[in-house]
Formats: sequence, C-alpha cells, structure tokens
Amino acid sequence: MAIPKILVFAGSIRTGSFNARLAANAARQLALMDAEVTHISLVDYPMPLYDGDHEARSGQPENAVKLKRLFMAHGGVFIASPEYNASVTPLLKNTLDWISRVREGREAPLAAYKDRVFALGGASNGNYGAMRSLLALRQVLEIGCGALVIPDQIALPRAADAYDENDNLKDEQTVKRLKGVLQRLIDMTRQLT
Ligand SMILES: Cc1cc2nc3c(=O)[nH]c(=O)nc-3n(C[C@H](O)[C@H](O)[C@H](O)COP(=O)(O)O)c2cc1C
Repeated sequence: MAIPKILVFAGSIRTGSFNARLAANAARQLALMDAEVTHISLVDYPMPLYDGDHEARSGQPENAVKLKRLFMAHGGVFIASPEYNASVTPLLKNTLDWISRVREGREAPLAAYKDRVFALGGASNGNYGAMRSLLALRQVLEIGCGALVIPDQIALPRAADAYDENDNLKDEQTVKRLKGVLQRLIDMTRQLT
C-alpha cells in the first residue's frame, strides 16, 4: 500500500502558539501512523496582504507558488486553525487566498485544493476550542476552493492547560480524538491517491 503523504501546518506563527503545538502533535502522531509527514510553519512563507494591483503588477508571490506546489505534492493536508473573532486568522486566510490564485501551465483553477483531502483542528483557551474558526475554514476550503474536507475534526478548548512541559497533549481522550481524525485523513488520502 502506498505511504500517504501528509502536509501539516498551523494558522499561527505566534511563539508558543496553541495551534502550532496542535500541529506538532498531529505531525508526530502521523509519523507514528506510518504517514510521510511534512511539517511546516507559515513563518517560512511570508507573503504580502493580497491586493489585486500587486498581483497585476508582480503576479503571485514566490512563497504562494512554493506552497501551492507543496500542497500538490501531498495527498492530505492537516491545518490547525486558531480563532480570531469567530473566524480564521488573517495569516491563514491570506495564505489560502494567494494559493488559490496560483495557476501553472494548463492546470484547472484551484488545483492545489483538488485531488487531496483536508482535515482540520483548532485550539483556543476558550470553551469552544476554536470551533467557529473550523466552521469558517470549512466554508473557505469546501465552498470557496472546492476542496474535500473530512467531517471529523478536533476542537481543543482550554488550550493553555492542554499541553505538558514537552508540548505533548496531556489528556488521553483528546489524543484519542486526534488519532481518530488523523486515521480518517490517512484512510481517505489512501483512497484518493
Ligand atoms: C483579534 C483576536 C480575536 C480573537 N478572537 C477569538 C475568538 O473569537 N474565539 C476564541 O476562542 N479566541 C479568540 N482569540 C484568542 C485566540 O484564541 C488566542 O489568541 C490564541 O492564542 C490564538 O491561537 P495561537 O495560540 O495558535 O496563536 C482572539 C485573539 C485575537 C488576537
């Protein structure tokens, strides 16, 4: 059976980010589940705020092209999404918007979002665990970009207490839920690729 290739990143580049830690937990878990994991941080892919004039002048930023190609080199993508005012972070939305604008050669529009599977997680110190950002992100990916997003997702509330001193998730039930989401991501990635 082919080894599923999964890309993992968070929608925050904040030092100590709850979501960067969730992404790191997911990446470690995926590796244990025999997936081939690429774990990146958006800090390495800075982009200007999307502006049509900028695009008309200079095209898409090199980092948008790089990320788009990275998406296309993977059968699955796990995104850990923080919640800002009941939605996704501007960093994440800007990144996804720029990627959606990259079209190379004769490929169909939104190629980076097609033919692969997405799974979502989110962490917040509130009681809802970034749940509303997951709904917003699902809308962006599914309705906006035509992506396949698996129904299973993980919302991690009270995130300030969720990790131990090594940044591992403390609660067994949470780890079990994360594993369930990732197993479904792996299974769906295998089916599709
Ligand atoms: C502009 C702004 C809006 C926020 N809105 C929400 C919110 O709607 N719901 C929530 O649970 N947390 C909200 N927060 C708190 C974030 O969840 C918190 O900053 C969290 O640490 C961000 O994720 P990170 O740790 O991965 O950077 C907000 C934070 C900021 C800066």
